[in-house]
Amino acid sequence: MLINRKHFSLIDSTNTWAKQNAHLLPKDVITLVTADEQTAGRGRFKRHWVSPPKQNIYASFCFFLKMGRPDIGNIPQVLALSTVTVLRKWGFSAFLKWPNDVLISKKKVAGILAETTTVDDQLCMVLGIGLNVNMPLELLEGIDRPATSLSFEGKRHFDIEEVLQVLQKQFVADLSLFLDQGFSHFLETYRRYHGEYGITPIRFHDNQKIWEGLFHAINDDGSLVLQLSDGTLKTFIAGEILF
Ligand code: BTN
Repeated sequence: MLINRKHFSLIDSTNTWAKQNAHLLPKDVITLVTADEQTAGRGRFKRHWVSPPKQNIYASFCFFLKMGRPDIGNIPQVLALSTVTVLRKWGFSAFLKWPNDVLISKKKVAGILAETTTVDDQLCMVLGIGLNVNMPLELLEGIDRPATSLSFEGKRHFDIEEVLQVLQKQFVADLSLFLDQGFSHFLETYRRYHGEYGITPIRFHDNQKIWEGLFHAINDDGSLVLQLSDGTLKTFIAGEILF
């Protein structure tokens, strides 16, 4: 698949720009919107995404899908998996935190914000990823939840454009496999990249309340199953595991 690149040195948010300009984007290629710096970077749950200049990847993959595909909710999970694949190839001990956070040393190194908009009768997916590449400890410590960067973990500087190129290549290949074969192709790897939760209870926020339970399984559709303290199994399709 071809990539149409749109780069900004400064922008409010690559996701916001992509959603606002979706009607101008070519429909037959992936557009990759990137920025050196974001003034209003957005995370999940209306959080702010810390986006200082020339330190990290701020990128939105934008592409058009036919309406009615039931599994588009798995696409952000595929991007998270592509990210872990790339980081592991570089020797990082990277893991997934359901549904699509990427962790190293139990701290978040990348997050994904998936949004959609409609143009004509096609669905435009805007898949934003923030990957902390060269963010120094002083700035990581200013983030209100455990965060890390490749340079902090790897004790060396990374070329941001090179990291982006490798990630882009991996994701474009994985997306094409997903569109052909569905999420089942990735399930085994997606489950394995979560690592072991063991017998430590998980706290989980489903956008309404906080649940506590043991990690039980990831269903074939990518949803999460927890075993609650009374033994019942509860399935979640959205939310986040709390640190
Ligand atoms: C999360 O909360 O984990 C998701 C973070 C997503 C951040 C990226 S940075 C590029 C793109 N533009 C944004 O405003 N957000 C996403």
